[in-house]
Amino acid sequence: MSVILGIESSCDETSASICVDGKILSNVIANQTIHHQYGGVVPELASRVHQQNIIPAVHQAFVLAKVNKNHVDAVAFTRGPGLLGSLLVGTSFAKAFALANSIPLIEVNHMQAHILAHFINDPKPTFPFLCLTVSGGHTQIVLVKNYFDMEIVGQTLDDAAGEAFDKTAKILNLPYPGGPLIDQYAKLGDPKRFKFPEPQIPELNFSFSGLKTSILYFIRDQQKMNSDFLTININDICASVQERIVTILLNKFKKAALQYQIKNIAIAGGVSANTGLRNGVKELAEKNGWNVFIPKFEYCTDNAAMIAIAGYYKFLAKDFVGQNIAPLARMPF
Ligand code: KG4
Ligand code: ZN
Repeated sequence: MSVILGIESSCDETSASICVDGKILSNVIANQTIHHQYGGVVPELASRVHQQNIIPAVHQAFVLAKVNKNHVDAVAFTRGPGLLGSLLVGTSFAKAFALANSIPLIEVNHMQAHILAHFINDPKPTFPFLCLTVSGGHTQIVLVKNYFDMEIVGQTLDDAAGEAFDKTAKILNLPYPGGPLIDQYAKLGDPKRFKFPEPQIPELNFSFSGLKTSILYFIRDQQKMNSDFLTININDICASVQERIVTILLNKFKKAALQYQIKNIAIAGGVSANTGLRNGVKELAEKNGWNVFIPKFEYCTDNAAMIAIAGYYKFLAKDFVGQNIAPLARMPF
């Protein structure tokens, strides 16, 4: 039997999870609401709140899983990428827990873990598959050859897709994080009402900074003519922006699948919670006769279950790290 404690603290979610023999028994996520008033994550505040939340989150994870702390076989933690101060809290906790219990430590790459969240429930994808990983900090097309053999074949050259959602929300005077709110308004709007440009970026890469600027100028010009423009048209604006972000993502994803001749496709990361993207990728797969894998909502945004499941596969491979390990704000595969 293997009992893995997973710890996630890369950004503004403090999370702890227990995984027993590859099954997730608990996944406790403490959200940090303090950042909402600032319109984005404040790194200094995030690390302080992680310090306050980590022990209660871990304790709760044990209680819900009905697992004793002394029965843990290994502790897996997010080493990076992420905010350094935030990562330090989870890393230090994991090191202390491993040292106190004389158990091995497992480092996990946060972006790989988003992809490995697909191995929490059935049906699980078979290798190789192509994953569109879209979060607040990253936008990547990843060729997944095995659990930890992954190749980034396309990525954003500037903003991430989640950032495009969040920055648009800011322009529309919506609170942080704006992605889920744009998703909600978009459900009530007409996605064809306003046309925003699709950037022409070579190969399998993305760019979202031009889109953000075009939305900013469009809203500013319309507001000059009608100061109520935003209020009256919020649903159609959100639907049109979402439609453009989703088509930018899916056009490149389709190109990648054809280029690599891969018939198993998946989405992962916070933006994979987006209704437009979930529906769009299903439609893309249906049209082309591909198999599609879409994570459950609770495993899209940051969570420790994905760290615990990644830890489980590393545990099977006895892939451990020493106590001298330090977090990495940038962490390649
Ligand atoms: O993966 P994640 O929780 O954290 C990072 O690793 O960055 O992703 C957070 C991002 C935010 O930008 C948030 O606005 C976006 O995911 N997001 C969404 C939705 N839910 C979360 N974007 C669009 N639609 C959603 N439903
Ligand atoms: Zn993430």
